[in-house]
Amino acid sequence: SKKAFIFDLDGVIVDTAKYHFLAWQKIAKSLNINFAHEDNELLKGVSRVRSLDIILGLGNVQATQEQKDQWLIQKNEDYLSYLVDMDESEVLPGVLKILKLLKDKNQGIALGSASKNARPILEKTGVLSYFNVIVDGNDVTNAKPDPEVFLKAAQLLNIDPKDSIVFEDSVAGIQAANIGEMVSVGIGEETILHEADYIFKDFTQITADFIEKLIN
Ligand code: G6P
Ligand code: MG
Repeated sequence: SKKAFIFDLDGVIVDTAKYHFLAWQKIAKSLNINFAHEDNELLKGVSRVRSLDIILGLGNVQATQEQKDQWLIQKNEDYLSYLVDMDESEVLPGVLKILKLLKDKNQGIALGSASKNARPILEKTGVLSYFNVIVDGNDVTNAKPDPEVFLKAAQLLNIDPKDSIVFEDSVAGIQAANIGEMVSVGIGEETILHEADYIFKDFTQITADFIEKLIN
């Protein structure tokens, strides 16, 4: 039967986590805040505004709203500068095969991302046309682990949450899917994503058989 397959963007479709990290690190450095690669896990799936607060918290830095707004603009400009040359080659291994399979099987395909840069990234990487529905950081008020973004996607596809499957690389995203009573599929490390219903290292590990079972 027809299901909703909802994909997170950063770290699931494209490996942009490294660019988010570089851009945040630049801000952190300029404020003398020690922001290590391990700390980046805290920012996955987290909105831009909240990410800045987490980084400022790491350094115990107080700031005015005006300063924060300035840093948020700076961060996004730096982030976008890393994406200028982005193309199809940045789609993570195995993703295209699964998108094609789902399309062939006439399944609902949605994006469920916290990013406000989702559309241009999908365009640049050539996968925009696979998505029936896009729900991103411009459409939601409650951040993951609130399930709003995924519930909205399922609703727009006209499919029940319980018939929805979420692919996520972040802990907050897996929790959001679970709270929304959807099937959660973690993409990444088992030690980090252990709350997921299923976990795969990456999309190359997901078989047609697995997808078939989810559909039937
Ligand atoms: C995703 C990423 C986060 C990012 C957030 C907002 O959830 O995992 O690292 O901060 O989107 O993205 P944006 O592109 O709007 O800054
Ligand atoms: Mg992600």
